[in-house]
Formats: sequence, structure tokens, C-alpha cells
Amino acid sequence: MNFSGKVALVTGAGQGIGEEIAKEFARKGARVALMARRREGIERVAEEIRREGGRALALCGDVSIECSMKNVVEQVVAELGEPDILVNNAGIQRTPAKLFEMEEKLWDEVLAVNLKGAFFACKSIAPYMMKRRHGRVILISSLAARRMSFFGSVDYTVSKYGISGLNHHFAWEMAEYGVTVNAICPGSVKTPMLVNSTTKEYLETIVKSTIPLGRMILPEDIAATTLFLASEEAAMITGQEIEVTGGALLGLGEYFRPMINQRIREMREKAARREQH
Ligand SMILES: NC(=O)c1ccc[n+]([C@@H]2O[C@H](COP(=O)([O-])OP(=O)(O)OC[C@H]3O[C@@H](n4cnc5c(N)ncnc54)[C@H](O)[C@@H]3O)[C@@H](O)[C@H]2O)c1
Repeated sequence: MNFSGKVALVTGAGQGIGEEIAKEFARKGARVALMARRREGIERVAEEIRREGGRALALCGDVSIECSMKNVVEQVVAELGEPDILVNNAGIQRTPAKLFEMEEKLWDEVLAVNLKGAFFACKSIAPYMMKRRHGRVILISSLAARRMSFFGSVDYTVSKYGISGLNHHFAWEMAEYGVTVNAICPGSVKTPMLVNSTTKEYLETIVKSTIPLGRMILPEDIAATTLFLASEEAAMITGQEIEVTGGALLGLGEYFRPMINQRIREMREKAARREQH
């Protein structure tokens, strides 16, 4: 895949999934704008991209504030050119709490970044993509948009279910301009967000009990899917939610394999004995 001549804006690019997506676009030739609330992360990532010979611009901004998001898009246009690709990746998770004990402030904070932030990002980029009748939008959602989250709480899950609605509407509205819009639903990705919010034992149990492919997802797995959705090869894919979960929705991880294999063996033996009589 070659993104030479393309401009990509990645929100939440200061670490984790966003960092890897931005680096991978740069490796494949795109000019990349990295956005995050805090400067240190995006400056570091931009510097690493430049050292590898890529072109990167670090822009501070907050996706949950409309004028801040709009301002970032205007800076991208002025300094790198009109954006071809938006990856809305910025997202937060706060200390999990049960619904009945959750404070309104926490709910508002998570919804403001994860859902309203995606709305502002899409709204800010739309006029440029509509004018050029070309563009790719990729929303980083979560497996929490498919069923409840193991790691977050109801605020996080609701914000990601909201992304599904946004994805469908925006994909339909942008289709007449030749712009595609899709979401990626990652399972448990090994990033600071996850590692800092849980223990090694908890993670191992989740992997063994729920991920048939037997390992956590890596930021590289999400970057590869993002680049595919942004490519010309994905021209006819829109309004979709692509799960990158190691098979988590199949429901049973490796803990269950011996038990299931044993049951299959026993059932076969029983059937064979019945045939003999
Ligand atoms: N890590 C996982 O297991 C996992 C699983 C499924 C989905 N996701 C989603 O993937 C995305 C990235 O997750 P991550 O694990 O890399 O997170 P992370 O915490 O490692 O990185 C998040 C980035 O977003 C930035 N950010 C936070 N609030 C912002 C705001 N208001 N405006 C601009 N930037 C902001 C942070 O500065 C940081 O650079 C999130 O949307 C998350 O919900 C993560």
C-alpha cells in the first residue's frame, strides 16, 4: 500500500494505537498530522517519524471542544494540505464504576471525548472531503460496541455503541461525495491505556478465556486494518464495523479447548459403541 501524496490526520496520536497508526501511514509515504491534548507524546512521535525520513506535524488540541478540533483541521490544511484521511482514535477510559455509583462528571467526561469528540472530528473534516469528493474516515471504536467491556464501565461502553450510530449515519451521508466511513472494533490491545488500568493476571485470564487466537491484539494489528480501510483497495467498503479481536466474539478461549475436545471424543466413542450394537 502506498500513501504518497496523501495527508492523514490521526487524533490521539501521542501513544498507543494512534502512535502506531500515524507511524505506519508515514512509513507508507503519507504526510501525517498528529493530534493530542498533551504536547510531549505527539512531539516525540513526530520526531521519530522525521528521523525515519517521514513528514509529520504535531498539533495540540482537544477533540471534545469544537473550536479546538476545527482549528487543528485548519492548521493541517494550511501546513500539509487538505486531508485525505481522518483516523478518529482519541479516546479515554476513567476509573471504572458500577452504573448505580457512577458520578455524572465521569459519565460526561468519557462521553465528551469518545463520542462528542468523534462527532466534532467528522464535522470538521467533512467540508474538505465533500469539496474534493474524496476521503476516508476511520473511527476507532471497540469490542465494547458489540457487548459490554471487561475493562471499562457503562460510560465507555455507551460511548462506543454511540460510535456505531455515528458511523452508519456519516457513511450514508458521505457516500454521495465518494467518501467512505468505517469503524474498527478492537478487542484488548496492549497499550498504556489497558496495561495501566489492569493487572497482568487479569489480562492473562481474559486472553485464555476469551481469545481463541491466544494473544492480545497489538497496536500493529489495528494499524494494518486502518491502512487497508484507507486504501484504494477498500473503495467499496463503507458503513462497516470491522472487528479485530482475535476471535473474541466466538465466545470461547483456550481454557475451553480441552473440555470441548474431550466432549467431542466422548460423544464420538458413544456413537461408535451404539453402531456396534
Ligand atoms: N487499548 C485497548 O485495549 C483498546 C481496545 C479497544 C478500543 N480502544 C480504543 O482505541 C483508542 C486508542 O486507545 P489507546 O489504548 O491507544 O489509548 P491511550 O490512552 O494509550 O492513547 C489515547 C490518546 O488519545 C489522546 N487523547 C485523550 N483525550 C484526548 C482529547 N480530548 N483530545 C485529543 N486527544 C486526546 C491521549 O493524549 C493519547 O495520545 C481509543 O479510542 C480506545 O477507546 C482501545
